[in-house]
Amino acid sequence: MTSPSSYLLFIVFSFVFLPTHARNIVHGTCKLCSQQDPNVRYRFCTTSLEAASGSHHANIRGLGKISIHLTHENLTDTSSHIKKLMKNNVFKLNAFVKPRLDDCLELYSDSIIDIRSAMKNYKLKRYDEASLLISAVMDAATTCENGFKEKRKTISPLTKRNNVTFELAAIGLSLIRVIQSGIN
Ligand SMILES: *[C@@H]1O[C@H](CO)[C@@H](O)[C@H](O)[C@H]1NC(C)=O
Ligand SMILES: *[C@@H]1O[C@H](CO)[C@@H](O)[C@H](O)[C@H]1NC(C)=O
Repeated sequence: MTSPSSYLLFIVFSFVFLPTHARNIVHGTCKLCSQQDPNVRYRFCTTSLEAASGSHHANIRGLGKISIHLTHENLTDTSSHIKKLMKNNVFKLNAFVKPRLDDCLELYSDSIIDIRSAMKNYKLKRYDEASLLISAVMDAATTCENGFKEKRKTISPLTKRNNVTFELAAIGLSLIRVIQSGIN
């Protein structure tokens, strides 16, 4: 604790880790994560975590669990959404879109398995394993979205959902990094 920057870091960490008011924990944590990780947007982080039940009593480890849980819920929801799109043929699925949705469904199904495993590992404090699995989920959302970009003038029906999945997972990943930085 000699340089001004390490002093500042100390204040930031105290703010995040000490059991202060819960709202401050979400805000302080999201601030730290958004500063450290370009994939985490402060507003999205606070909105997502505050809407989740339990976040108001959570410590940073609890917030990590909540973000993984939110990612799981979103994956499940998007998976059934894709199934519905294919069944109802809302977008009059053409020969290009249909196989892209098939790919996305497979990616999302795999991601559900990955996020379950990530949660198990997280609970056991196997943070490296959990991080790898969460990264795989982020990659899956990106791969799904990119599939639609292979052809011009095709609009992905899943842009918003892929984005949300990516960002929720990014919050979890970022929280694990904060925890792993040794303070917990
Ligand atoms: C997915 O996450 C977004 C952003 O946090 C949230 O608004 C939405 O309700 C979530 N959906 C499900 C099904 O969990
Ligand atoms: C998700 O959408 C927001 C707002 O539209 C955008 O700022 C952000 O960069 C997007 N994130 C990704 C990973 O595409």
